Amino acid sequence: MKIFLFLAFIVSSYSYAQSGHDHQGDAKKKDDHHSEMHDDGHHGMGGMMHGGHHKLDKATLKQFFEPLPASIIDEKKHAALIALGKKLYLDPKLSVNDTISCNSCHQLNNFGVDSQPTSPGHEGKRGGRNSPTTFNAALHIAQFWDGRAKDVEEQALGPILNPIEMGMPNEAAVVDKLKKIDEYKAMFAEAFKDEKDPIQYKNVGKAIGAFERTLITPSRFDDFLKGDENALNDAEKRGLQKFVHMGCANCHNGVAIGGNSYKKIGLVEEYKTSDVGRFAVTGLETDKKVFKVPSLRNITKTAPYFHDGSVKTLDEAIEEMAEHQLGRKVGPGFVEDVKAFLGALTAKDSK
Ligand code: HEC
Ligand code: HEC
Repeated sequence: MKIFLFLAFIVSSYSYAQSGHDHQGDAKKKDDHHSEMHDDGHHGMGGMMHGGHHKLDKATLKQFFEPLPASIIDEKKHAALIALGKKLYLDPKLSVNDTISCNSCHQLNNFGVDSQPTSPGHEGKRGGRNSPTTFNAALHIAQFWDGRAKDVEEQALGPILNPIEMGMPNEAAVVDKLKKIDEYKAMFAEAFKDEKDPIQYKNVGKAIGAFERTLITPSRFDDFLKGDENALNDAEKRGLQKFVHMGCANCHNGVAIGGNSYKKIGLVEEYKTSDVGRFAVTGLETDKKVFKVPSLRNITKTAPYFHDGSVKTLDEAIEEMAEHQLGRKVGPGFVEDVKAFLGALTAKDSK
């Protein structure tokens, strides 16, 4: 798959160079994208557009996007584990003063977010980062804005012990608390049938992670990718074209329309932030201000935006992206169409 994409990239970059399109700006920018490309082997650039046709063909779409699978966990086989995970996700008893649950910051009836720039924890204190949605998060290459947890199972164990989030003092305290609740005794025993001592801290993560794997949200864009041409209206189709041609899809691509690579915020035009991003994980100078590219599924519903929640509206987020990531100034027509397309990434039936 990756090799194919890489070849497609080379070929299309070549035809791009030959055809002399200028929609991507000057040659220098093109080189930036080349080096980006080598970072992680992901998709190519706006050169995917062939011979001046402004319509996207199916092959091009397939190179960038993939529809959501019907499911990423066997929900029947893991029914007990998932039920336990959902109960834990919703339970404020996982916090030190019984006030905060995962659901406080990642609300299931609000597209997995709390709609705040940063989130208050068990004492009302806030961290420096915006709560990303838990919807479709299990599909990402790693968890958190800087990718410091490898999957949703590992991630779930963080906030419970985080002093400004749920504030439990240590793993043993969580286990002791759960062991005193009869309902949990029964549910852990059912979910971890083969284990003698099923109430263990790591099993809390396994259960919550299993539940999060059910939070995938098929959209009209998935229907479109699967061949239903009428699933998107004209404005949405125009927006999709602009999204690909401008180069947004160089970073926001794959099954989650993002979530599968790390990129610098301010790749072309500097972006001011005091957050060092992925540098904190890798210690590499080149990882300063590098963040996981967010998934754009349900993006019209998850304002405010960016790692610090500093961007209030989607219009502004689109403009800032064009400017800082691609060195382009975009007008209201671009913003309206791209916003329309992004709206087609919203869950068809909100959970
Ligand atoms: C006080 C608010 C708060 C609580 C409570 C909380 N989270 Fe979060 N969550 C956040 C913030 C803020 C981030 C981003 C932090 C970062 O990237 O450094 C985050 C990140 C995540 C992510 C990563 C998503 C992505 O796109 O990378 C997942 C998954 C997640 N939380 C699930 C949970 C689960 C499960 C619980 C309960 C065990 C929980 N959260 C409790 C605020 C919270
Ligand atoms: C070079 C890679 C790259 C390109 C190109 C790019 N983005 Fe992004 N995008 C990112 C990264 C990284 C972030 C996270 C930035 C942050 O939070 O500091 C992001 C964030 C966003 C967000 C906010 C997501 C959220 O949950 O807060 C939106 C919306 C978005 N991009 C849309 C676009 C659009 C539209 C384009 C094209 C005009 C585009 N992006 C081009 C890498 C890219």
